[in-house]
Amino acid sequence: MPRKLIAGNWKMNCLKADGVALARDLGVRYSGEADPVFDMLVCPPAQIIDAVGAAIAGSGVVLGGQDCHRERKGAFTGDVAAPMLADLGCSHVIVGHSERRQYHGEIDLLVSEKAKAVHEAGMTAIICIGETEAERDAGQALAVCSRQIAGSVPEGSSAENTVIAYEPVWAIGTGRTPTADDVAEVHAHIRAELSRMLADPDDVQILYGGSVKASNAEELMSVANVDGALVGGASLKADDFWAIAKACS
Ligand code: 13P
Repeated sequence: MPRKLIAGNWKMNCLKADGVALARDLGVRYSGEADPVFDMLVCPPAQIIDAVGAAIAGSGVVLGGQDCHRERKGAFTGDVAAPMLADLGCSHVIVGHSERRQYHGEIDLLVSEKAKAVHEAGMTAIICIGETEAERDAGQALAVCSRQIAGSVPEGSSAENTVIAYEPVWAIGTGRTPTADDVAEVHAHIRAELSRMLADPDDVQILYGGSVKASNAEELMSVANVDGALVGGASLKADDFWAIAKACS
């Protein structure tokens, strides 16, 4: 079974001082664990990755980006290249988050190209997928996940360089979550889809994301094929994020 990964996606939150304080707090807690059964990842806004990286240095908490450009460098004003994130010490980069798909028009092909750029920079891509509420209501949740996996997971992906995050769009920031049975169904489906594409599907971490909090983490993290969480709002408070992580223990 893959090791659990508890990942915080800070989104467009935290000025530098707040981010550094949060990261330092998590670093102290994590490094104080004798034998943590989970990996902990924080994904701050790009502008403060460097400062957050310094705050968690040596703690065992790892660092990630929230997005990257598909190209390695060039005339792309305002964008961030994957090698730049690697240069700052990132081990992971989130790609294809539904907020990127929704507000920036990102399609599966672009997500796949971004994931490839992450791989080529020597990092792990956290590829996000998940259905909208209308798609779930139409009975399309599994089909949407299949389509997004087929389109967004590039050739050369493996458990070494790829994590899948299942984030139903309607559960993000809403306080609503699918039932444990629904999560189990989708995650088993994702695992089956991966087994048709990858050599080591059983080792791929499949995260659940969408309104994960301390109060529901234990139930969600104990569902079969759930190998961790991608947490938004509740990752901004050390107590809440830590409680989610401890729910894996
Ligand atoms: P919330 O945990 O705030 O619902 O956000 C989930 C998410 O989008 C993580 O990437």
